[in-house]
Amino acid sequence: MAQKTDSNRFSSPSSGSVPIVIGHRGAAGHAPENTLASLLKAQELGVDWVEFDVKLSGDDVPVLFHDETLDRNTDGHGPIADQDLRALQKLDAGAWFDTAYTGTPIPTLEEGLVVLAQCGMGANVEIKPSKGREAETGMIVGKALAQTWPTSLPLPLVSSFSAAALKVCAAVAPNLARALLVSNVPKDWRAQLDASQTDTLHCLSSGLRKRKAKEILDAGFTLRCFTVNQPKRARQLLDWGVHGIISDYPDRILKIV
Ligand code: G3P
Ligand code: MG
Repeated sequence: MAQKTDSNRFSSPSSGSVPIVIGHRGAAGHAPENTLASLLKAQELGVDWVEFDVKLSGDDVPVLFHDETLDRNTDGHGPIADQDLRALQKLDAGAWFDTAYTGTPIPTLEEGLVVLAQCGMGANVEIKPSKGREAETGMIVGKALAQTWPTSLPLPLVSSFSAAALKVCAAVAPNLARALLVSNVPKDWRAQLDASQTDTLHCLSSGLRKRKAKEILDAGFTLRCFTVNQPKRARQLLDWGVHGIISDYPDRILKIV
């Protein structure tokens, strides 16, 4: 069970119980991303919350997966949206990372939640729709979270690059906090947050400058950065007032918070 004793590891009240350090795709630097092994590795590293990506199988089951296609990190091929759950569960999502993980499957969201409950870990659930499936993914994932989120855990933070997915998720799961994901912060970031009905922005670390961070933070919004693997950069962002860091190597970042 992850320890939640250091109050310095938790960010502003507006973010509820979201800690400063969030493991990216579990702990993607140490184990194959978005697998149960990656969630368990995060727990082993002392991480309180993980981020992972959720999209739909061809037969509408939410699974933990990042890419549009299966080629990069499984032994399958083509769009994930073309495969039903049965086919996806036969794939190897671990060997690409290390042969020690050969046979590691793509987990369903349901399986992921069981592991989170066992570990006592919270989560930032990223809704990652396949192209054209934004609304239905927001709807199905939002409903699944609203209905099956383990009561022993703090409520999840839902995020997405898709404002459409977030909007539908908000309609079916209004109690869940939301964050809009952007790569570089757009000029109209405030309007985009309004459209997504959230006060929380998660942006790519590499493009963020101090002045922009200050503009967002001074206006009272919550700001977190991904994917920050260098402790020095994490320290700089936190010194600017950024509320949270999403990292493939959360263990490295935990050492400097
Ligand atoms: O949620 C933060 C981060 O995961 C967003 O980018 O592409 O790694 O899902 P990506
Ligand atoms: Mg993600």
